Amino acid sequence: MVRAETNSPPADLANKVYVVTGANSGIGFAAAENFASRGAALAIVCRSAERGTAALNAIRGKTNNTNINLFVADFTSLGSVVRVAQEINHSYDEIHVLCNNAGGANAGRTVTKDGFEKTFEANHLAGFLLTNLLMPKLLLAAAHDSARVVFTSSLGHKNSPLDFDDLNLEKDYSTLRAYGRSKLMNLLNAREIHKRYGDQGVIASSFHPGAVRTSIWKKGGILAAMLGIVMWPFMWSIKRGSDTFIWLASSNDEAALNANGNYFFDRRQVSIAPFATDEAAERLWRVSEELVQPFLESQSTAS
Ligand SMILES: NC(=O)c1ccc[n+]([C@@H]2O[C@H](COP(=O)([O-])OP(=O)(O)OC[C@H]3O[C@@H](n4cnc5c(N)ncnc54)[C@H](OP(=O)(O)O)[C@@H]3O)[C@@H](O)[C@H]2O)c1
Repeated sequence: MVRAETNSPPADLANKVYVVTGANSGIGFAAAENFASRGAALAIVCRSAERGTAALNAIRGKTNNTNINLFVADFTSLGSVVRVAQEINHSYDEIHVLCNNAGGANAGRTVTKDGFEKTFEANHLAGFLLTNLLMPKLLLAAAHDSARVVFTSSLGHKNSPLDFDDLNLEKDYSTLRAYGRSKLMNLLNAREIHKRYGDQGVIASSFHPGAVRTSIWKKGGILAAMLGIVMWPFMWSIKRGSDTFIWLASSNDEAALNANGNYFFDRRQVSIAPFATDEAAERLWRVSEELVQPFLESQSTAS
């Protein structure tokens, strides 16, 4: 069993457990490296064992922090998420910070083996399920210390409202619509977590990192790649793009400690889409719970 380091060098995140998804590249990697450099016990969740191992070794090498573990899960499989949540829960007594950062865009509409549209499952359902499965350990940390859940959302959340009759985008799929709605879901999840767990000490937030020079632009098909090429010179560096992320996940600034489920950009709370309502957040939570229920049941049958 791996515990939060008790003899780590003096650092402001010593003895804190940080879980970061999508930590092998981009802003997830930058944030994970920052937390490790400040003494956190780090759990990185990555899709590929190979890329995850490379990231783990790179972070260890740069920070000299050996208290880093890799957990492998593909977020297009909810069974994979359930398994990795069990592994993380077995590895740590408490979890102080969960960064739901993994995500991407998909050129065409694909249905996963779980039966969901890929972007919906990977960007929303997987993080939703992981958060719920790790919540008992987050609440333990919150009870005597603090706990935070940070979602990497996007300005793209303003693209279109949710269509609860077509969450799998069977009717009118577009890369932008699928991506935008999934990022809206991230924002709404943070709001709902604040509502449900804020009074128990869980600080939830979401943020837009800016348009950032990461590989995400190359993974979403030809249109995203072309947009990426045009915008590349104007995009933010990964360092700048991860700043608000790191701030929300670790700062003791009043504004970060009182994030209250809100949405941030450049360390400031900023406006959200008019359709990002409390009602939408509450409904999304209920619907998502129903959708992931079979995976929770299969877990309890198996164990
Ligand atoms: N870059 C921007 O301009 C921008 C703007 C707004 C929001 N964002 C958000 O920022 C977050 C991080 O993206 P990034 O820009 O840093 O790009 P990135 O370097 O591509 O990082 C995305 C991370 O998510 C992981 N991921 C994607 N699909 C996954 C799956 N099915 N299962 C498990 N992991 C998966 C990726 O793993 P692989 O390496 O295996 O693909 C990678 O580690 C995303 O949520 C994105 O939506 C980015």
